[in-house]
Amino acid sequence: MCQSVIGDTISISSCPKKINAKNNINNSALFKDDVKLKPFIKWAGGKSALLEDIRNFYPSELGKSINKYCEPFVGGGAVLFDVLSNYHLDEIYISDVNKELLNVYKTIKNNVEELIKVLDKFQNEYTPLDDEKRKVYYYDRRDEFNLYIVGETTNKVYGSALFIFLNRTCFNGLYWVNSKGLYNVPIGVYKNPKILDKKNLINISKKLKKVKIVCAKYHKSFDFIDENTLVYFDPPYRPLTETASFTSYLKHEFADKEQIELAEYFKRVSKKGVICILSNSAPKNTDEKDNFFDDLYKGFNITRIQSKRRINSNASKRGNINELLITNVIDIKKVEET
Ligand SMILES: C[S@@+](CC[C@H](N)C(=O)[O-])C[C@H]1O[C@@H](n2cnc3c(N)ncnc32)[C@H](O)[C@@H]1O
Repeated sequence: MCQSVIGDTISISSCPKKINAKNNINNSALFKDDVKLKPFIKWAGGKSALLEDIRNFYPSELGKSINKYCEPFVGGGAVLFDVLSNYHLDEIYISDVNKELLNVYKTIKNNVEELIKVLDKFQNEYTPLDDEKRKVYYYDRRDEFNLYIVGETTNKVYGSALFIFLNRTCFNGLYWVNSKGLYNVPIGVYKNPKILDKKNLINISKKLKKVKIVCAKYHKSFDFIDENTLVYFDPPYRPLTETASFTSYLKHEFADKEQIELAEYFKRVSKKGVICILSNSAPKNTDEKDNFFDDLYKGFNITRIQSKRRINSNASKRGNINELLITNVIDIKKVEET
């Protein structure tokens, strides 16, 4: 038996598409050239710290019969870069609604040498400055970036370099825009920010050559996805507290209505017989009775994992909390046991 679809879930008993009980980074389908890519930006909700847990859910057929990967909410791409570093795949699709971010991916793919030249200039100009002069330099670049956002300047390589520069030097690597869509994050405090990581950018550029980069909402990925695809969904998290603004990539609201629509999409895609993994917050961290995701993803496999995600603006009150990893793969043995 290859796989069977039970309702919306895929049975993994004697199925070659089984998920990994343990991280399978020693799998024979892995790259041998050992080029480890890492995200070129910091990103709110970035998954670098959770990779160990997420890898446990990669199918063991990844890089073999599962030769396509789709990440519709790519952001900083922590999982994308892990997959690109470790598996040979034929087709990869990434999307996000952040147009400026997607232009950076496209620039790295198509114009990495030019991008490196501008970033090198930024690095050499910014690093030697004192705090006051750094401030002036940062806010001048921010003004330039906002001219690019509104379309008054159109050089995509320069706009992409501004994006990376601001991300590496702003407060906490945040990407906030105001009601007019203008980037408004203040400068951060870093002694020696790494504005240019040349080697990583060149390596990423090579691996992006076969990646389809689409600026679109997540559901546009539907036609790309088939039974040979692994899909990883990492939407804006449902906020755990009134003040937590994890859903606010400000221009694009992602409230409960959008979470419900996404669950519908997860089910539609599951019917194609693909393996899906989805991350989200665990509402029970703050309200034991909150069954939002348990109800929404009833019948799917919901696992709690520990993270150090911030739910409190007071650093001393930030502890380990749970988040959810939801998959459409069930272990038939577990079902038979119950
Ligand atoms: C939690 S972040 C993804 C983080 C990413 N996994 C990482 O490691 O950096 C969610 C992303 O979804 C994007 N987004 C928000 N609404 C979207 C939508 N409807 N369709 C596609 N992307 C969306 C945001 O711009 C943001 O980059």
